[in-house]
Amino acid sequence: MVEHILNLKNTALNDINLAQTLSELEEIRVKYLSKKGEVSLLMGKLRDLSPEERPAFGQQVNVLKESLEVALYQKKQVLEDQALLLSMASEKIDVTLPGYQFYQGSLHPLNQVIEDLEDLFVGMGYEVAEGPELENDHYNFEMMNLDKDHPARAMQDSFYTDETMLLRTHTSPVQARTMLAKKGEPLRIICPGKVYRRDDDDPTHSHQFTQIEGLVVDRNITFANLKDALLKMVRHLFGPERMIRLRPSYFPFTEPSVEVDVTYIKKDGSIGYIEILGAGRVHPNVLRMGGYDPEIYQGFAFGVGVERIAILKYKIDDIRHFYTNDLRFLRQFKGVNK
Ligand code: PHE
Repeated sequence: MVEHILNLKNTALNDINLAQTLSELEEIRVKYLSKKGEVSLLMGKLRDLSPEERPAFGQQVNVLKESLEVALYQKKQVLEDQALLLSMASEKIDVTLPGYQFYQGSLHPLNQVIEDLEDLFVGMGYEVAEGPELENDHYNFEMMNLDKDHPARAMQDSFYTDETMLLRTHTSPVQARTMLAKKGEPLRIICPGKVYRRDDDDPTHSHQFTQIEGLVVDRNITFANLKDALLKMVRHLFGPERMIRLRPSYFPFTEPSVEVDVTYIKKDGSIGYIEILGAGRVHPNVLRMGGYDPEIYQGFAFGVGVERIAILKYKIDDIRHFYTNDLRFLRQFKGVNK
């Protein structure tokens, strides 16, 4: 019997010794120490013994049980320590590894120009207005002083969807809409938005482009106020050295009308001019149709080509870059204004 106890002890200790993982160790514990384990079975043998033999046998089995418990406990500590070290090693963060590159989206260069100018004009007391891109002929042309057979309608070849509706050819219809909405109150607005024209045979033109309309209506508004607003805009965009040149021009909705050029330094060092916008004093007919008495109120208006501004500001060679969504192009404008 004693020999049997010793054998069991040796195999159990050997098993414990060989255990590699905590779950193996648990299996060993179950095998030897659970209710139906080897040690319990051994205790069951008490019944077969004579009363004199029992105490000594019982004591030996208890000693066996205790020594197995101790061995299991110690081995468990060892395996737990190992597991901890292992997970520490495998989950270690190498802070010297380069990080992942996450590309963050950024504003399209045209939207950057728009936001930049919105900030500028809002700072000068203007509101930002909006209007529909699918526009009624009435606002796009008629209220802008171009009646049905006005020859200047040909200046803006348009996309009609039916007799009266068209994709707006300029942001100027928002002038008419805003004047009607303000019901004779003085106003200062800018309106950025997409416009559409049917002249796409020249690579520097696109059937869709972007404008920012400006309109001020108040008492005592003069051409000097227009010039001041435009110069502030140009210098904000291109730097304090820039000059502007106003050239006489014609728009049906302004009188007098000008086209505005901005100076730039040519390759040979001399000064050149590039056209960036059309402008003028609001035509009396436009004021009248908008509900303002031209004897009391005056106004000025301008329409800026946003692509033109972005091309100049960022030195871009082809307008089509703005519309092809090539990420190599777009990523270059990340944060350029901030
Ligand atoms: N609407 C004109 C255009 O698109 C620009 C403009 C706006 C001119 C306001 C004068 C005043 O060509």
